[in-house]
Amino acid sequence: MQQILVLHGPNLNLLGVREPEVYGSMTLADVDEKLAELARELGVETRPFQANSEGALIDALHDARLWASGVIFNPGGFTHTSVALRDAVAAIELPVIEVHLSNVHAREEFRRHSYIAPVCVGTVAGFGWHSYAAALRLLADLVNKA
Ligand code: DQA
Repeated sequence: MQQILVLHGPNLNLLGVREPEVYGSMTLADVDEKLAELARELGVETRPFQANSEGALIDALHDARLWASGVIFNPGGFTHTSVALRDAVAAIELPVIEVHLSNVHAREEFRRHSYIAPVCVGTVAGFGWHSYAAALRLLADLVNKA
């Protein structure tokens, strides 16, 4: 069965309590559980991982080369700052979909630029946890066809 890394960046461990008016009231465990359920329906398997540091996220991306067929990645605030994460995504040659809970394009100006998006197959933003669900459907389709 195809394995998908679901990679969550900084501060996403605080989902549910962190600015719920922006990010919703579901916890990260809730999101991961919903995705695992959906993955079963789609015939793939998800493996979630969250880290607050750039290095741990880079290591997780490198490691994914050994076992994953694709990655769903919410880089959090690093989206708008990290050349190193962009380079890691470009290096691994796996399909990566960038996701955001909030609509980053309708928020502060600094959130409109992503270092990660140009090296991803696409981006889904603005649908709360459904951004992850949509990305999972798209990625499952992609890896099951490959
Ligand atoms: C986020 C959007 C980012 O701008 C922000 O820094 C986050 C969460 C989102 O999922 O909407 O931490 O990635």
